[in-house]
Amino acid sequence: MAEDQTGAQSGEKSRGYHMGTVDTVISVEEVTRQVAAIAEGTSPEKLDALVVGDPFVSIENLNAGYGKMEILHDIDLRVGKGQSLCLIGPNGAGKSTILHSIFGFTNIFSGSIKIAGADGTMNDVTRLTPSEKLSQAGIAYILQDKSVFPGMTVEENLWMGGFLKDKPDEAKKAAEMVFDKYPRLAARRKHQAKVLSGGERRLLEISRALVMNPEVLLVDEPSIGLEPRFIDMVFEILEDLQRRDGKTIIMVEQNAKKGLEFADIGYVLVSGEVAIAGPGDELLANPNVGQLFLGG
Ligand SMILES: Nc1ncnc2c1ncn2[C@@H]1O[C@H](COP(=O)(O)OP(=O)(O)OP(=O)(O)O)[C@@H](O)[C@H]1O
Ligand SMILES: [Mg+2]
Repeated sequence: MAEDQTGAQSGEKSRGYHMGTVDTVISVEEVTRQVAAIAEGTSPEKLDALVVGDPFVSIENLNAGYGKMEILHDIDLRVGKGQSLCLIGPNGAGKSTILHSIFGFTNIFSGSIKIAGADGTMNDVTRLTPSEKLSQAGIAYILQDKSVFPGMTVEENLWMGGFLKDKPDEAKKAAEMVFDKYPRLAARRKHQAKVLSGGERRLLEISRALVMNPEVLLVDEPSIGLEPRFIDMVFEILEDLQRRDGKTIIMVEQNAKKGLEFADIGYVLVSGEVAIAGPGDELLANPNVGQLFLGG
């Protein structure tokens, strides 16, 4: 937030909500005001219509936050099995808080979070702890940056994905598949994770999801701070997880163009509410979204 305000005051070029620089810098408050003005209103029926098949993850009327502070107000969200959903919106809108809530890091005041079980019935996971989320509901959260174990080697870090799920043998097999596919990691498999570059570490974090084999993947800003070839590799892994392995992905992406190009469904979040929802490519083509988030 401070970054934007500094940029706005000094009149310098600054990073926009996508890659690269923008000439006109508008403050987070102004973006928030403008998005609120173009909010299209989202009914549960409209969100349901974006789902292919039955919903796999369903959030209803969620009010949640930190301590006593409510950040999310009456959030509804639906995504089908094997679909991807991308949340975009200004800084502080509550995007990460949605992922935190799904994983069990927030205070949930009311509402529910449900996920489909193996037999297709929707199970209420609202009150599960983060470790139960992974072991019982198959929800994994790709944390930013701090989840690799620096003193462990690259391969040990991958195997950890399996220990988390109590399936070390499967994890070793899956790790070999990751190494086959990503020579960059294979070449470093015996190196300690702490010597990896930021981009390599991100690859490791995300490829660990291939090993953990969750049903639902929560990913917060996978491309942040990465140069283009790493961004492409990260999205390639996500693509594999979704298209090849049929995983359901809910992600937050500041690089709105990349995120919406990738995702089947896009939600624009503002001030803890869903302002606009639509198919990813439709949001990409929406001039209001373009002007505010795509630098066009
Ligand atoms: N652990 C926390 N404790 C208290 N307040 C928090 C905490 N994390 C976030 N917040 C507040 O919740 C609001 C929403 O934050 P959130 O991180 O969800 O925004 P975001 O949309 O992900 O923004 P960004 O694009 O900057 O990552 C902000 O006002 C923030 O200050
Ligand atoms: Mg965030």
